[in-house]
Amino acid sequence: MSNSNHIKALVNPLFKTVLKASSLLKVDSYVIGGYVRDYMMERGDAKDIDIVAIGSGIDLAQKVSSLLATKPTISVFKNYGTAMLKVDQIELEFVGARKESYKEDSRNPAVEEGTLEDDQNRRDFTINAMAISLNKGSYGELLDPFNGIEDLKNKIIRTPLDPDITFSDDPLRMLRAIRFATQLQFKIEEKSFESIVRNAERIKIISTERIVDELHKIVASPKPSIGFAILNKVDLLHHIVPELSNLKGVDTIEGQRHKDNFWHTLEVLDNIAKNTDNLWLRWAALLHDIGKAPTKKFDKKVGWTFHAHEFVGSKMVYKLFKRLKMPLNEKMKFVQKMVFMSSRPIVIASGVTDSAVRRLVFDAGDYIEDLMTLCEADITTKNSVKFKKYHQNFKKVRDKIIEVEERDHIRNFQPPISGEEIIKTFNLKPSREIGIIKDAIKEAILEGKILNEYEAAKVFMLQKGKELGLKTN
Ligand code: CTP
Repeated sequence: MSNSNHIKALVNPLFKTVLKASSLLKVDSYVIGGYVRDYMMERGDAKDIDIVAIGSGIDLAQKVSSLLATKPTISVFKNYGTAMLKVDQIELEFVGARKESYKEDSRNPAVEEGTLEDDQNRRDFTINAMAISLNKGSYGELLDPFNGIEDLKNKIIRTPLDPDITFSDDPLRMLRAIRFATQLQFKIEEKSFESIVRNAERIKIISTERIVDELHKIVASPKPSIGFAILNKVDLLHHIVPELSNLKGVDTIEGQRHKDNFWHTLEVLDNIAKNTDNLWLRWAALLHDIGKAPTKKFDKKVGWTFHAHEFVGSKMVYKLFKRLKMPLNEKMKFVQKMVFMSSRPIVIASGVTDSAVRRLVFDAGDYIEDLMTLCEADITTKNSVKFKKYHQNFKKVRDKIIEVEERDHIRNFQPPISGEEIIKTFNLKPSREIGIIKDAIKEAILEGKILNEYEAAKVFMLQKGKELGLKTN
């Protein structure tokens, strides 16, 4: 066990308050878990600090609060023996050291008091089990019984105990292992990895919300493909996102093959991760091709087709969000829109016309930038000539978007002539003709027949009315 001193980890004055509270209560306490890990990795200041008390975590939290000038309120979770208080932006979480055994069919533990070692034993990974003393005499000393420091150096995710025990105690940890491997770009040690394969089925007892929390963290990582490749390898992917595992594989008929849409998708996701931190745009990249599995067909004349996969995919987005209890609000609609429109810029890129770009901007509205970012990420060809050409084509589309936008202001299109004006001009009652004229004006603008302005639209309206046999007032 290393007894090197890490007092530098304790510059936040809160730690001194915990030291004082611990001495007053005569209980030992330690900072443990993610805070220690991130300090050792120099990952910047953590927002959450976990304190373990060798005694009651709730009593310690109360004492700490009473010593602080602001007397922050404490949230107590009696069942878990934990208490939380917020100071400025930092969440301080207190827990009594535990010896835990989990019930087979649930992740709610039966709690029993324990020593620091007991508590470290029951943590998920060696790198998360390191503790720093907050006690007189040993303040700042590192307690690292499983050599987490070494695993940090070697970039390894490993369970402190036999991984079958650690993972079956709390199967969410299998996903946490994959999430940490992705975020930190660490390797999951072999025994831990094999155990995930053995225990994969047990993910079923974990709540959807917690699973999705981990998925979001994987998607938000610098190179999210790491996580999805592992999820695939350990056979967890089809339990969680079968829409993605269904994209796996390459079929060949009459010598014609299509690309493996699963691995293509992961490349797209990594590409987009370099250009955006927008979690939902990253999700759109992950899901942009899911409609390809149910629409895949072989046609003797044209080869492999995925007819209307964008439409089918956007419908699948709703079902997936619903199943995973993700928000069914504008975030979901955004992802649907991106999936639905994902091929549009590609279709127009080879011969960019003003009217096609106007229609694209009209349909994408404020999300045109995001859509272009998605389409550029979608270029995964290994042929460098094609790669360059596709990017150049998209550059042309982007330039055209700016040009057309400056001239025609299509992005947040407001019809230059209102329905009311049409009614007044032709003395109409609510009728089909109003819609027909409105649509015709919009179409004429998008097609570039008239400018997006009042005068031109008025002349066009009068002419259209005449064609319909309407009389003006
Ligand atoms: N922990 C655990 N098993 C879990 C969840 C958490 O053993 N299923 C322990 C780990 O020691 C972990 C600590 O509780 O370090 C705090 O958990 P949490 O706040 O969820 O994660 P962090 O490690 O702090 O990492 P992050 O903030 O990146 O999620």
